[in-house]
Amino acid sequence: MSEGAPVRTQGPRSPSTIRDRSVPGRRASGFAPLDVPSVKMNPSFRRARPPALPEVAEIDLVRHYTRLSQQNYGVDTGVYPLGSCTMKYNPKMAEAVAAFPGFQRLHPLQPDATAQGALELLWRLEQALCEITGMHAATLQPPAGACGEMTGLLVMRAFHADHGGPRAKVLIPDAAHGTNPASVRLAGFEAVAVPADDRGMVDVAALDGLVDEQVAGLMLTNPNTLGVFEEDIERITERIHRAGGLVYYDGANLNAILGRCRPGDMGFDIVHINTHKTFATPHGGGGPGAGPVGVTQELAPYLPAPVVARRDDGTFAWDDDRPRSIGRLHGFNGNVGVLVRAYAYVFFHGADGLKEVSELAALNANYLAAAIATDFPLAFPAERPMHEFVATAKPLKDATGVRAMDVAKRLIDLGYHPSTVYFPLVVEEAMMVEPTETETRETLDGLADALRRAAAEARTDPDLLHEAPRTTPVRRLDEARAARHLRLRWGMGEPPD
Ligand SMILES: Cc1ncc(COP(=O)(O)O)c(C=O)c1O
Repeated sequence: MSEGAPVRTQGPRSPSTIRDRSVPGRRASGFAPLDVPSVKMNPSFRRARPPALPEVAEIDLVRHYTRLSQQNYGVDTGVYPLGSCTMKYNPKMAEAVAAFPGFQRLHPLQPDATAQGALELLWRLEQALCEITGMHAATLQPPAGACGEMTGLLVMRAFHADHGGPRAKVLIPDAAHGTNPASVRLAGFEAVAVPADDRGMVDVAALDGLVDEQVAGLMLTNPNTLGVFEEDIERITERIHRAGGLVYYDGANLNAILGRCRPGDMGFDIVHINTHKTFATPHGGGGPGAGPVGVTQELAPYLPAPVVARRDDGTFAWDDDRPRSIGRLHGFNGNVGVLVRAYAYVFFHGADGLKEVSELAALNANYLAAAIATDFPLAFPAERPMHEFVATAKPLKDATGVRAMDVAKRLIDLGYHPSTVYFPLVVEEAMMVEPTETETRETLDGLADALRRAAAEARTDPDLLHEAPRTTPVRRLDEARAARHLRLRWGMGEPPD
């Protein structure tokens, strides 16, 4: 039985930042004696005050950061069942491939003739992603899923500008990922919410009422953010097409459909993929990632233009065959290291392997959903979840006052990373769980045990959960304040917020 991976303070409690260990004059390294003549520096280049660097010995430095790393939790230490965000284990094979010197030392400015292997890999990856999604052409430039969304929506806008004039609205299910409405606004459209029906799927009758000649398109993910497959997907895409709109597939997570069905075959026109969720790049911490975008043949001319030549004056020429391109979304070919990992993952698995990934992802999610259903029932029990499921802690809250957030925090004490909570917003006390395909049955049993134990504790000792986590280096944080009053810069002598 898996016992989780508790986050604990390691070694003696140390001051909170490396600066708190600073002792004037202490050093981790020094400069070699000068072996060239010294020159007088222009005083205008001299700083008025010494830099506010911590003064520590090497051993302080090593211990401080090693301890911090040991207080962390990651996919390499335990299951990370964040629904929608997909924190899946990244095989070390992909890391090894990305570390090949030919990829690692590649420079964006080196002549194409010396980078043919890498360029071929990118071309092959493009073809593979088109095959997996059923699209005609793709761009690898966008460095994240949200940027992929922006790219796809700009393609949508450019297409309408060429075909009957601009359109104002993009429809989005009310359970959509937050980046969808944000990207829609950034691309200059108005976001219009489409409600879900009691199966957790797009309410087709409501959609019908919203579609008009001002609708540029619909943005959807399938399986949707409630974890269920949109059974009416062909009717939905056909309805939007009939009104002259385009249909966008948020393919941030393809875990459920890899090798089984393709957005292109469902009628989608534009797809973005988060390679950092589906294809082996660590996800989180702000990147780097890659959000390639695939489109139909009709939309291919609008894709971001690649740089094809470097002029003598050092500027770059774009592909002149693409006068209708939306421009560039990223320098050169995007985040190549991430794309190399994606290539390694796709070709290591092959078509059969990818099919197995989706099979195991759905199996694991259903196994776990069933194991915890008594305490945390599915929000939409009539439908079988796919690679992730949305359960609810509402019955527990009604009976004990213990909320989904309290359960999540208690799980940390019990050695497991919590699931996503309070998303999708349309489900009360939502717990969105995605175990992913790599977790073993023992790990899933351990996680289910921990969740059931938390529910049992809620009935006998609710304060244990209200006060969780109790064992971590820092206790419960004020997450709303942390999100609203971001302070990313440390200032010498400034009081903490
Ligand atoms: C469904 C969905 N769409 C879009 C995104 C945005 O991707 P990124 O975080 O790379 O911008 C995510 C992020 O995890 C997601 O889960």
